[in-house]
Amino acid sequence: MPDAIDLLTTRRSVKPMELNGPGPTAAELATLLTVASRVPDHGKLTPWRFIVFEGEAQLAAGNKIAAVFCADHPGATADQVAFEKRRLARAPLVIAVVSRATPNAKIPEWEQVLSAGAAATSLVFAAHALGFAASWLTEWYAYDRRVLEALGVNPQERIVGFVHIGRPVRPAEERPRPPLDDIVTRYGAS
Ligand SMILES: Cc1cc2nc3c(=O)[nH]c(=O)nc-3n(C[C@H](O)[C@H](O)[C@H](O)COP(=O)(O)O)c2cc1C
Repeated sequence: MPDAIDLLTTRRSVKPMELNGPGPTAAELATLLTVASRVPDHGKLTPWRFIVFEGEAQLAAGNKIAAVFCADHPGATADQVAFEKRRLARAPLVIAVVSRATPNAKIPEWEQVLSAGAAATSLVFAAHALGFAASWLTEWYAYDRRVLEALGVNPQERIVGFVHIGRPVRPAEERPRPPLDDIVTRYGAS
């Protein structure tokens, strides 16, 4: 098992189609969710929650996505509809991270949203630490209120991401990262 810094400096997202089973066990899933919920949270508001899509439920949710897709695309081909039905079934496990930030709380909404982003990031890191790979996706259905309602997301909530988790079919290729000189300045340096 790589140490923490090795892990953090080599992590790569892996496309859902390249994530195979077996998915996390029940104990591993509990670990993933425990890590994801252990994030900085100003005011201890818990401004996020998780929805787990596993097994049959992945296809049941996909049917809801496909129904909305078909309503908007009456001429969709059978292949397109089949793809939408499998949106949340491409990887063995999908966890939706939901932001439930409240606008009028003492803590700025922005900070609550950032905490939800941290939860998603921690979830991705935890998956990699357990030997899985992950992909944080939103795609169109994350922004479609008809789909969200069907998935049990309230009107005042927002999707941070659908984190797809599984075992990578091949090692991920590296991609260029921003040079630190481009993104880091030292205050006071001329
Ligand atoms: C909020 C958020 C939403 C994202 N949604 C998508 C998406 O819908 N489709 C996609 O291909 N990548 C999406 N990504 C990007 C991938 O998660 C991933 O970061 C990207 O493929 C780069 O890979 P890396 O994590 O190895 O750098 C999203 C990332 C974030 C932070």
